[in-house]
Amino acid sequence: MAGDRFDPARPVPRHVAIILDGNGRWAQKRGLPRTAGHAAGSETFRRIATYCRDIGMDYLTVYAFSTENWKRSVEEVSAILGLLKKYLLEALEKMERDRIRLRFFGDLSRLPKELQGLAARTLETSARYDGFQANVCLNYGGRDEIVRAAREFARRCAAGQSRPEDLTENAFSGLLDSAGIPDPELIIRPGGELRQSNFLLWQAAYSEFYYTDVLWPDFTPAELERAIAAYNGRSRRFGGIP
Ligand code: FPP
Repeated sequence: MAGDRFDPARPVPRHVAIILDGNGRWAQKRGLPRTAGHAAGSETFRRIATYCRDIGMDYLTVYAFSTENWKRSVEEVSAILGLLKKYLLEALEKMERDRIRLRFFGDLSRLPKELQGLAARTLETSARYDGFQANVCLNYGGRDEIVRAAREFARRCAAGQSRPEDLTENAFSGLLDSAGIPDPELIIRPGGELRQSNFLLWQAAYSEFYYTDVLWPDFTPAELERAIAAYNGRSRRFGGIP
């Protein structure tokens, strides 16, 4: 899947993951409510996803709502869920034109029923297309994902469908929310914090990390290109010797 900016000297990673951070501070700096930062952040997501599609990336995974984000105020949680609803409604309507398929990582069962229904419809519609895919993490936590996968494997063993010795790294990857998707080569965290925050704990085993102080709503395609250039300059050894 070669995109518009195909250039062998500047290869595009197949899968980039981003922690959407800094929305609240972006809003506070402007004297706006935090929810305005999330609204701006969702527009940035739209722009960056379109750009990723255009440069020939296969997957973009974004951390939009974590298992810990329920600790925020009711107003903030419902503003974020409202933005997601709006985004999914638009995505459903425009999928053919936008060519952005969607998939979800996380335990969707705790989300409002309406959002669960919309997510299911979006998945069905996405299955009719191929090409670029955005994975949106909703009520997602890396530890929670691993526990859900382990529980599923234990259930299969108890039902006599699997034996403990069947479990390999590959088999376990196939039980995660990201089943069938290659691990992200590059994980980007805007917003200035230097931590992983329970994001893609299994999948990030050999990911390259790129941190920037830019707040997510201010994140631009040029910033993404800087991250990709930094990634292209890294020596990835996967524990071996080059
Ligand atoms: C982190 O910034 C951001 C979130 C917890 C929410 C991200 C959600 C969106 C951008 C809305 C919808 C998303 C999509 C994909 C349509 P923060 O609030 O922790 O910022 P702070 O660290 O500056 O307080």
